[in-house]
Amino acid sequence: MTLRHPEILSPEPAGITRAADLLRQGGLVALPTETVYGLGADARNGAAVARVYEAKGRPSFNPLIVHVANVEAVAEIAELPVLAKDLAVAFWPGPLTLVLPLKPDAGIAGLVSAGLPTIAIRIPAHPVARAVLEAFGGPVAAPSANPSGRISPTTAAHVRNGLGTRVDAILDGGACAVGLESTIVAVDGATARLLREGGLPREALEPLTGLLSEDLTPGRVEAPGQLESHYAPVAKVTMNSDLSDALAVRIGFGPSEAAEFNLSPSGDLREAAARLFDLLHAADAMARETGVDRIAVAPVPDTGLGRAINDRLKRASA
Ligand code: TXA
Ligand code: MG
Repeated sequence: MTLRHPEILSPEPAGITRAADLLRQGGLVALPTETVYGLGADARNGAAVARVYEAKGRPSFNPLIVHVANVEAVAEIAELPVLAKDLAVAFWPGPLTLVLPLKPDAGIAGLVSAGLPTIAIRIPAHPVARAVLEAFGGPVAAPSANPSGRISPTTAAHVRNGLGTRVDAILDGGACAVGLESTIVAVDGATARLLREGGLPREALEPLTGLLSEDLTPGRVEAPGQLESHYAPVAKVTMNSDLSDALAVRIGFGPSEAAEFNLSPSGDLREAAARLFDLLHAADAMARETGVDRIAVAPVPDTGLGRAINDRLKRASA
């Protein structure tokens, strides 16, 4: 197949259908939303989500926003306290992301929420994004479609210049109307916290939320302390282990007879990234059940996605 890469799709029915097909195949599709362009992948497909991190060149796994078509789809994925329902009625579809308790059986790949018990979710208003979500019929994980550390893209050309052939297709829906990322609000029971200022002003939210407490440190969930407090395993994690410690729960990478778990028997970093959080949870559970106090992880090469994997393991072993 010698299709031009990335495919540039028009926001017509044929382009929408193609975008949905590519998502179904585990592809990466950049799509316009009213805020900024998102780099979309099937949120239930860990390998596809791993490719998102790879394409952005993110040095760490900070969690992604899940995009869905309607509030029924939200309710399948997350718990919706009354306050969240009120915000949904008032502002969705639109430039608001809610961080809500994740339903564990929702089928969302562990890598999307980076192992957190919460999920960031929104219903975008852009007609092209909505058409893709409806044609695809599932949740789409999408961070802004820029390389890590660069500014968010508001046109298809920005995406093309930034990500080039690392994305399978770009759906060209013109310039984004809002041009600013969504406002992120975490809802916990009856209280709300503002995590990121964005396209929806706080003045619009506060009649419903009351005075919003701020938790605005940029990249807040990236801060090591934050990650550790949220999901450090109880057992002590050792990196770069030769897996000779038979009294540890062992996680291999590459061929390994001894390991109880394996990130990727074939040594594939994408597969390893897709499995990382699920395996850490599983290894921690096994350690608890068997009364073992440590988890040993084989060396993971520090290249490409391996850097983000090692970053996560470092935080877990700190
Ligand atoms: O407008 C937008 O929000 C765009 C479009 C594509 O929807 N998306 C976007 O995604 O800006 P991204 O990945 O660039 O930013 C998502 C932010 C990150 O700062 C991440 O830390 C935060 O959302 N986030 C995601 N899940 C979270 C969670 N469970 N708890 C706290 N923060 C979370
Ligand atoms: Mg971003």
